[in-house]
Amino acid sequence: MTAHGLAHPFSETQWQRIHALLEDLDPRQALWLSGYLAGQRIDPGDAAPADPAPTTGPAVLIAYGTETDNSRHLAERLKALCDQAGIASDLQNLERVRVRQLARRAYLVVITATHGDGEPPEPALSFFEELADDTAPKLDGVRFAVLALGDSTYEHFCTAGRTLDARLEALGGQRLIERQECDVDFETPARQWLTRVLASLPRPKGATVSKAPATPVPARPAYDKQTPLETEVLVNQCLSASDRASPIHHLELALDVADFPAAPGDAVGILADNPPELVAAVLDASGLSAEQPVTVDGQARPLVEALRQHRDLTLPGSRFLEYWAGLSGDAGLRRVLENGARDQRAFLRRHQVLDILHHYPARPEAAALVDALRPLQPRLYDLANSLDVESDALHLTAKLFRYPFEGRLETGIASRYLLNLQPGDPVRLYPHRNARFQLPSDPRAPLILIAEGTGIAPYRAFVQHLAASGRPAPCWLVFAEQRFEEDFLYQLTFQDAHARGVLERVDTVFHADQPDRDLADPLLARAGQLFDWLNRDAHLYFCGDKDRLGDTEARLREAVDAHLGAGHWKQLSKARRLHRNLY
Ligand SMILES: Cc1cc2nc3c(=O)[nH]c(=O)nc-3n(C[C@H](O)[C@H](O)[C@H](O)COP(=O)(O)OP(=O)(O)OC[C@H]3O[C@@H](n4cnc5c(N)ncnc54)[C@H](O)[C@@H]3O)c2cc1C
Ligand SMILES: Cc1cc2nc3c(=O)[nH]c(=O)nc-3n(C[C@H](O)[C@H](O)[C@H](O)COP(=O)(O)O)c2cc1C
Repeated sequence: MTAHGLAHPFSETQWQRIHALLEDLDPRQALWLSGYLAGQRIDPGDAAPADPAPTTGPAVLIAYGTETDNSRHLAERLKALCDQAGIASDLQNLERVRVRQLARRAYLVVITATHGDGEPPEPALSFFEELADDTAPKLDGVRFAVLALGDSTYEHFCTAGRTLDARLEALGGQRLIERQECDVDFETPARQWLTRVLASLPRPKGATVSKAPATPVPARPAYDKQTPLETEVLVNQCLSASDRASPIHHLELALDVADFPAAPGDAVGILADNPPELVAAVLDASGLSAEQPVTVDGQARPLVEALRQHRDLTLPGSRFLEYWAGLSGDAGLRRVLENGARDQRAFLRRHQVLDILHHYPARPEAAALVDALRPLQPRLYDLANSLDVESDALHLTAKLFRYPFEGRLETGIASRYLLNLQPGDPVRLYPHRNARFQLPSDPRAPLILIAEGTGIAPYRAFVQHLAASGRPAPCWLVFAEQRFEEDFLYQLTFQDAHARGVLERVDTVFHADQPDRDLADPLLARAGQLFDWLNRDAHLYFCGDKDRLGDTEARLREAVDAHLGAGHWKQLSKARRLHRNLY
C-alpha cells in the first residue's frame, strides 16, 4: 500500500517532511494548501506539468469502476476537489467510457475496484475488454494514474487496477503518479493518493481555490454504511427444508421512513454483528476486559462493541499478522512474514483470527488489537419485494453460507446473523443500488429471469412491480433449487403470477430430483421461443450462484451464437440487455 518512485525535485528529508504533512491533512486542508500555493503564483515547474494541448472536453477525465460504490465516492471526491481548485475535469463511470475517447484526454485518473475472482467490476467489463483488444488506440501523451481498491484476503488482490495500470502503460501512456493499491481500510491511503493526484494536475494560470465548488461535494445519502438505517425484524421464517445444511430464510424488516431509495433489482447492505460466542472467545483468548474503552472511526466504544460490530474476527489481514508476530515473538510467525507475500497469503488462508490467538498466545493491548484487525465489511442482500407495492417493509431471502475450513465446517458471519434474528431484534442497513440489474425502460421488452437459489429474491420484487404496473411484456421465469417438495421458494407467489398472466412461463430445475438438468435446459428445450423473444429485444437476467450460472450462461451463449449469428451474445451485452447479479 505504498506509492513508489514519484519523480520530484526535493531532497529526501524535504520529501519525508512533505509526506508527513500531507498524511496529516484532510482533503479540505490539502485543498486549501494547494490553493494557497497556486495563489502565491509559485511556478509549478517540474512538480506539476504544463497546461496540456487542447482537447475536446476537459483535459482531465476521472473515471471509476465500481460495484459497491466505494470507487464512485472517491472519484466524486476528486472531482469536487478539482472543481474547487479550478481544474476542469469530467467524471464518468467506466461503464460509459469508450476506449477510443481516451487518446483525446491529456490526463486520465482511474479509480477501480476488483470483483469476482480478480475481475473488473461487472459494469466496467466492456471497457476492460476493449482496452485489452489489439485494436485499442495508442495513448502516447496521455498521463494516467490508477487507484486500485481491493481486499487482500482475495487471491487476486487489486488485479483489475493492476491490469489497467499495466495496459495503459503498454499503450504508451505515462504515469502521472504511481498506482496505489488499497485494502478494505482504504480511506486513509486513498485520501492521501487523491491529495497527491490533485497536486500533480495542472492548474490554469492564476487559478486560486474557489470557495464554492462548481460541483459541490455530493450530499451524503440519507443512509449509507457509516450512517445506516436502524430498523427491526418483523418476520424471520424458513422457506426451505429446515434440516438442510444451508437453510434459506425469508425476512421482513420494518421500514418506517419514506426516504429509503430502493427499486426492484436493488439490494440492501447489512451491517451484521459477529456471533456473541466468537466475540467472547476472542476476549477470552486475549485476556482483555469487555468494557475497556477503545476508539473506532474516531468514536470511543467499549471493546466488546468494537469487536462485535466493527472488526472482522474471522479473516486476519497481513497487518494483524505483523502485529501478532511482533507481540508473540513467535519465530514461526516471523518466518512467515520474512518469506514474503505468497507465504503470508497461504498462511492467512489456513488460519482464522481465533486460530492465531490460540496457536500463538500473547497479551495484546485493546487499542492495538482493534487497530490491527480488519474492519468488518457489510454484506449485500437483494430486496425481495417492490417498495411501490409494499412500502412498509424490506423483504430479504437469505441462505446460510457454509464453507469447509481446515477440516471443520464454518458458517458465514452475516448469513448466520440474519438467520438467527428474532422478531423485534434491531438491524442496521443501508440501500445499495444495483444499477445493472433494473427492469428495462421499454415496457414491451420480453423478460427472461433465470435464478439459482436465493437469486429468486429480486424476481419476486420484479413480479410484484409488473403485476401492479400492468406491464404488457411477456415474462419467463426459470428457477433452480434442491428439491421440489421443500425448496420451491415463494412457490405460491410465482404460481399465482403465472395464473394471472404476469408470468407467461415458469420452469423449474430441482438438482436433487434431476441431477443432470441445468438451468439452460428448459430454455433450450424451447429454443424457438427463446430466439423469438431475443429477436423481440428481450432482456435476460441471471441471479444467484456465480459458478452454476456461469455454466448456464456459457451453454446459452453457444446456442444463441450458433443460431442467431456469431457475436450475438456479445451484442446483447453491449446493448445492456444482459443483466448479471452473481455472487
Ligand atoms: C449484489 C449481491 C447480492 C446478494 N444477494 C444475496 C441474497 O439475496 N441472498 C443471499 O443469501 N446472499 C446474497 N448475496 C451474498 C451475500 O452478500 C453474502 O456474500 C453471503 O451471505 C455470505 O456472507 P457471510 O457473511 O454469511 O459469509 P462470510 O463470512 O463472508 O464468508 C463468505 C466467504 O468468505 C470465505 N471466508 C470467510 N472467512 C474466511 C477465512 N477466515 N478464511 C478463508 N476464507 C474465508 C468463505 O470461504 C466464503 O467464500 C449477495 C451478494 C451480492 C454481491
Ligand atoms: C463479491 C466480491 C468479490 C470481490 N473480489 C475481489 C477480488 O477478487 N480481489 C480483490 O482485491 N478485491 C475483491 N473484492 C473487494 C472489493 O474490491 C473492495 O470491497 C472494494 O472496496 C469495492 O469497491 P467498489 O465499492 O468500488 O466496488 C471483492 C468484493 C466483493 C463484494
